[in-house]
Amino acid sequence: MKVLYIKASPKPKNESISHRIAEVFIEEYIKNNPEDIVTELDLYDEGCQYVDYKILCDSFEKKGVMVETAKNFIEYDKFIISSPMWNLSIPAILKSYIDLIAVKGITFKYSKLGMPIGLMKGKKAFYLGSRGGAYPFPLSLIALDIKYVKFIFKFIGIKNFKSFILENVDKLPEKTKQNFEKNLEKVRKASKKF
Ligand SMILES: Cc1cc2nc3c(=O)[nH]c(=O)nc-3n(C[C@H](O)[C@H](O)[C@H](O)COP(=O)(O)O)c2cc1C
Repeated sequence: MKVLYIKASPKPKNESISHRIAEVFIEEYIKNNPEDIVTELDLYDEGCQYVDYKILCDSFEKKGVMVETAKNFIEYDKFIISSPMWNLSIPAILKSYIDLIAVKGITFKYSKLGMPIGLMKGKKAFYLGSRGGAYPFPLSLIALDIKYVKFIFKFIGIKNFKSFILENVDKLPEKTKQNFEKNLEKVRKASKKF
C-alpha cells in the first residue's frame, strides 16, 4: 500500500502538536504494516501554489499543476493528514492543496444528471488535528476544520475517514502535557485499525 502523509502546520516538527501526534500514528502504522510505503508531503517545506487564472486554464486543457498534483494524489491508497485549527478552519495552504487535487475527471466527475461522483473509491483517510480551545456541542457546529476536510474527501470518494483531535492545547497547556501520553496511546490504538 502507498500512504501519503500531508503535514499542514508551518511549525518545525518538534514544536507542532498536530505533527507530533501524527508522527506517533505513523510510527505505529509502520510497525504494523512494514511493507507499506509512507511518503511525507510537508506543505510548507514543499510549497503549494494557489490556483490562479493560468493554473485554472491549464487544468481545462488537462495540463499543469492541478492535473499533475491530482494525478500524483490518486496514486496513493491511504492518506494521513495532520493540521492545526486556524480561525475555526484549516491553514490556507491545506485548502490550496485541496484546490489542486479536486480536479474533475481525475478525482471526481459529474453524472449525466449533474450529480458529483467521487472517483477515489476504496481508499482511506485519517485526520489528526489540534486545536487551541475546545469545541463541545453547540460550538462543534462552528468547528469547520475537520468538517470541511471530511466532506471534501467524501466528495472525491473517500468515505472511510477517521480522525483524532487534541483540544485545549493552548487553553489548558498543563492538562495537555499531563494527558499527552494517554492521548498518544489512543492515537496508537487508532493507528492499528487504519
Ligand atoms: C493563525 C492561528 C489561528 C488559530 N485559530 C484557532 C481557532 O480558531 N481555534 C482554536 O481552538 N485554536 C486556534 N489556534 C490555535 C491552534 O489550533 C493550536 O495552537 C494548535 O495546536 C497548533 O497546532 P500545531 O502545533 O500543529 O501548529 C490558532 C493558531 C494560529 C497560529
